[in-house]
Amino acid sequence: MGAAVRLEGVRVSFGATRALDGVDLHVATGERIALLGPSGAGKSTLLNVLNGSVTPSAGSVQVLGADPAALPGRAARRLRARVGTVHQHLELVGALRVVHNVNAGRLGSWPAWRAALSLLRPQGVAQVAAALEQVDLLERMYERTERLSGGQRQRVAIARVLVQRPELVLADEPASALDPALAGRALALLSGLAAERGGSLLACLHDPALALAHCTRVLGLVEGRIALDAPAARLTPADLADFYGVRR
Ligand SMILES: Nc1ncnc2c1ncn2[C@@H]1O[C@H](COP(=O)(O)OP(=O)(O)OP(=O)(O)O)[C@@H](O)[C@H]1O
Ligand SMILES: [Mg+2]
Repeated sequence: MGAAVRLEGVRVSFGATRALDGVDLHVATGERIALLGPSGAGKSTLLNVLNGSVTPSAGSVQVLGADPAALPGRAARRLRARVGTVHQHLELVGALRVVHNVNAGRLGSWPAWRAALSLLRPQGVAQVAAALEQVDLLERMYERTERLSGGQRQRVAIARVLVQRPELVLADEPASALDPALAGRALALLSGLAAERGGSLLACLHDPALALAHCTRVLGLVEGRIALDAPAARLTPADLADFYGVRR
């Protein structure tokens, strides 16, 4: 198996805050990883290093065989199209209709003329409809996104990554606004999406049950360092409660 991700000694600082403090991580292609850890531990920062939106101050980064920060423009764009992110804060454009926000997942693989045309006459509507159906939102396809509830918007962000069909799926608390049934379905869709292309998943999750049900490996981040790294099959919900320091 090749490596989907290879990080060595990665450090990220924001002023005096060290968000990542020497992270070494090797993810083999096909792994499905749950990233756990308390608020502020550096989980989102780690995903942002992997999708190229944060450049570390030290260490080396390889994502699908390349360093996102070192690639020239067109190659960086090609790599970005192969890495799909469900952002913690969703990053949807509220004033646009749902169909356009979902199609944003394909901008990396469309020529500029097609992306511009799509704002006038939506392109790839059949794929958008299929993705929205998977997240149970088909009937909202032409509604302005700002009119949707928080959980519905989260599902739009999931549909956007479904149409992108990336090889590496990065999901930052993708089920935080969903009820338990929808949360399970969202995780199943994301891990299925990764598996469909022989790809990999890294998902920040706060719910240990979702982590154990949908992931093959669990990483725990504390103060920017990896404090737990174990196969999901060897962990129990009680182990994860201990990791969070929950007294039972
Ligand atoms: N853009 C930024 N500017 C300044 N500080 C930042 C920035 N992004 C993150 N940080 C800081 O880096 C640390 C790690 O933040 P990060 O968002 O990665 O945590 P997290 O584990 O995702 O937390 P949460 O579970 O609350 O989402 C925090 O102390 C945060 O304040
Ligand atoms: Mg976060």
